[in-house]
Amino acid sequence: MINALRGMKDLTLEESERFVHIVTTAITIAKRYGYGYIETPILEETKLFKRSVGESSDIVGKEMYQFQDKGGNDVCMRPEGTAGVVRAFVQAKFDRQQSAKFKFYYYGAMFRYERPQKGRLREFHQFGCESFGEASVYEDFTIIQMIGDIFKALGIGYKLQINSLGCPECMPQYRERLINFLTECQEELCEDCNRRVTTNPIRVLDCKNEKCQSLLVNSPKLIKNLCDNCDSDFKKLVRLLESENIEYQIDTNLVRGLDYYNKTAFEFVSDNIGSQSAIAGGGRYDKLVEFLDGKPTPAVGFALGIERIMELVQMPTKEREGYYLGAMDEEAIDTLFPLASKKRKTDKVTLEYSPKKLKAHLKGADKVNARYCAVIGEDELNNGTIWIKDLVKKEETTISIDKF
Ligand code: HAM
Repeated sequence: MINALRGMKDLTLEESERFVHIVTTAITIAKRYGYGYIETPILEETKLFKRSVGESSDIVGKEMYQFQDKGGNDVCMRPEGTAGVVRAFVQAKFDRQQSAKFKFYYYGAMFRYERPQKGRLREFHQFGCESFGEASVYEDFTIIQMIGDIFKALGIGYKLQINSLGCPECMPQYRERLINFLTECQEELCEDCNRRVTTNPIRVLDCKNEKCQSLLVNSPKLIKNLCDNCDSDFKKLVRLLESENIEYQIDTNLVRGLDYYNKTAFEFVSDNIGSQSAIAGGGRYDKLVEFLDGKPTPAVGFALGIERIMELVQMPTKEREGYYLGAMDEEAIDTLFPLASKKRKTDKVTLEYSPKKLKAHLKGADKVNARYCAVIGEDELNNGTIWIKDLVKKEETTISIDKF
């Protein structure tokens, strides 16, 4: 037997219904907020992710499904959706349009070669949204509100964590102050962080190592080092969240694992799914379009992890639906066959091809959760009728086939 690869899974039956329920709920809400669908390829040039997600990030440094294709191109299975959407945005020249404002949603498979564990897969699925052309912090708030609406519709509780990562005006100064602080205690930091002091010092802030976290207690904090513009936007975001009664926590160490963010960064976490608790994350990335050779265009977005949310979603109870059609002897099947085709134009229909006793058909109807079990036996065939049981009202009738 050939099994699926480690860290990759099949979704069937109840699980796949959960998946579809999450995606359709998210799509319904994203459309309300003005988002339209975008589909981009799973395979992209490796340099796209190096340039956007960042060479020093764990994703690019350790986790990419990267290989040479038969034409010798260096390609990579997307580890996330934003880079591809920005590439498509620039390639379609949407950035060249006057006051270009575009909102896209997407969902699909992402690939990261991480160590698999509960809630952490190598192939997983995201639903995401990217909004281009809005520099306003109102848009950051609106995206957070939309995610809240999605989780509410799915019946999921969460904690929202926010931070500001500053801008090219205030971030370099903060970076310097952080490097000075980290250099003082560099030898006590874990091996990864020791390296990060020179490659990507900001990432030291979200190291999970307890020793590193204890050393960071007195580190300079990002939100205390923002320029006036970033500071006032962050305060405005906080005011908007409070005015809409959206609970939040400020996490000064929230830096996200991808390098393209500036200003607003946020994560939604759940206490109920174990250590891989982030169910959605995102933020502003005003420089990425430019980085990928487009015209400067502000942008903000998020993605949620569908598999992690599947752990939390209660499916709505399924109402009985449609028809189960069965025959009690071979000849009746020829009569049922055109009836099934006709009924399928408007209703869900299951047609059982093997003749069976009535009891077995009732069982079959129950198994497919049909509302009606309709059966033709010898008597019905002679009289041109069909026997129907309403499995909700528990009522039985026999009607003419013409009326069915
Ligand atoms: P991210 O935080 O890397 O952000 O991923 C978003 C979500 O994907 C996470 O919160 C988590 O639920 C899920 N996820 C990530 N890795 C795994 C994994 N190995 N197994 C299962 N689920 C996982 C991004 O990807 C950004 N592109 C989000 C974004 C969009 N920012 C702006 N626009």
